[in-house]
Amino acid sequence: MSEFGKLWAEIAPVGRVAGGGYLRFALTEPELTLRDWFRAQAGRRDMTVTEDGNGNLFAWRGEPWAPGTVLTGSHFDSVPHGGGYDGPLGIVSAFLAADRLPADRRIGIAAFAEEEGGRFGVPCLGSRLLTGSITPEKAAALQDRDGITFRAALGAVPSGPVGTISRMAAYVELHIEQGRALTAPVGVASAIWPHGRWRMDFAGAGDHAGTTRMTDRHDPMLAFAHTVLAANREAIRSGAHATMGRVQVEPNATNAIPSLVSAWLDARAADTATLDRLVDAVIREAGERAGRDGTSLAVTAESVTGEVTFDVPLAEQLSGLLGGAPILPTGAGHDAGVLSGHVPTAMLFVRNPTGVSHSPAEHATDADCEAGIDALATVLEALT
Ligand code: GLV
Ligand code: MN
Ligand code: MN
Repeated sequence: MSEFGKLWAEIAPVGRVAGGGYLRFALTEPELTLRDWFRAQAGRRDMTVTEDGNGNLFAWRGEPWAPGTVLTGSHFDSVPHGGGYDGPLGIVSAFLAADRLPADRRIGIAAFAEEEGGRFGVPCLGSRLLTGSITPEKAAALQDRDGITFRAALGAVPSGPVGTISRMAAYVELHIEQGRALTAPVGVASAIWPHGRWRMDFAGAGDHAGTTRMTDRHDPMLAFAHTVLAANREAIRSGAHATMGRVQVEPNATNAIPSLVSAWLDARAADTATLDRLVDAVIREAGERAGRDGTSLAVTAESVTGEVTFDVPLAEQLSGLLGGAPILPTGAGHDAGVLSGHVPTAMLFVRNPTGVSHSPAEHATDADCEAGIDALATVLEALT
C-alpha cells in the first residue's frame, strides 16, 4: 500500500456513520480523535504541537511561529454526512509532504477549527478568530443545535487574534476540488467567490390542520416555499448559486399548521454586486409573500465573506513550479480565504472526478492524492 493509502486508512473509519458519510463536527468525539491522531503524527516526526486558544491546532518543524515559516494544513470537521476528503486530505498530505522535505525546512501544519460552520453556524470560525475577523465574545456565544456554546465546547472564551500569523512566509492549503472544473490531477486556486449564510425566520400562527379554514390561516410554510423557488430562479437568472439546504419547523407535526419555519439561505456569486442583488431580491420576495399571508419574516446574516483573490504572483509561481498547473476559481469557502488578508496565501486543488462534495460520494483517486502530495512537497520546498 502507498504511504498515502496507509495514512488515509488510519483516519478513514473515524466518524464514518452507517447512514453514509461522516459526522465529524468540531470538538465532538470523532474530531477530538482526529486531533489525537494529529498529535501522534507530529510526535512521530519530532514536531512541536501548539494550540492557539481558538480551537486551532498546530505542529511545527522548528520554533513555533518562527518568522519565515511556511504554514500548510486544513481542517478535520465535516458537514453533516459529508465526505472524508474535504479538509482531512490537506492535513494528511501536509504530513506526507513534510516527510519529503529536507530536514532544515521550517514548516507548520495547521488543523483549523469549525471550518464548515457545521456545528456553530459560522464557517472558518477558527481562522476568523485567529485573524480577528470575529470577536472572541461573539464566537464564545455561538450555540450548536443542542444549545451548547462554543465557549463550553472549547472550555474557555477563545483567546482571539494571533498576531504571529503575519510572520509566516506563506500559507498553502491543499484541498480536494469541489466542482467539475479541474481536469488535471492538480490545480492552483485563483479566487473564492463572495458568499454568505442568511437565517430566515418565517413566523405565523400554529393551528389545527383539520379545522382551520384555508382562508383563516397564517401559514409560514408558504412564504418559505415561495422563497426556495425564488432563490433558485434568481440564482439561475444571475449566474450565481443559491441553496436552502437546512430548515427547522415548529412544531414539525403532520397535523398542525406550523408556527415557525427557520431556513438558511446559502448564496454565492462571482462578484459582490451580483451576490448583493441576489440576496436583496430573495429577501424582498420572501417579505412580500410573508406579508400577503399575514406572516412575518426576520432575516439575520450569520456570516458574509467577501470576494477573495489569492496572491496572483504566488499562484503563478506555483503553477509554474507544477509544470503549468491550471489556475481556477472556486465557489467553496476555505480558511485560506480568511488567512489571505494576513499572509501570502495559495491553494492547491486535487482533482475530484465527479465534482461531488459535501456528500458521502465525494472522492479523489489515490493516484491524484499522491500527485497532490508531490505538488505540495515541491511547493513547500520552493517556498521555504
Ligand atoms: C465550505 O466548504 C463551504 O464552502 O461552505
Ligand atoms: Mn467543505
Ligand atoms: Mn474544506
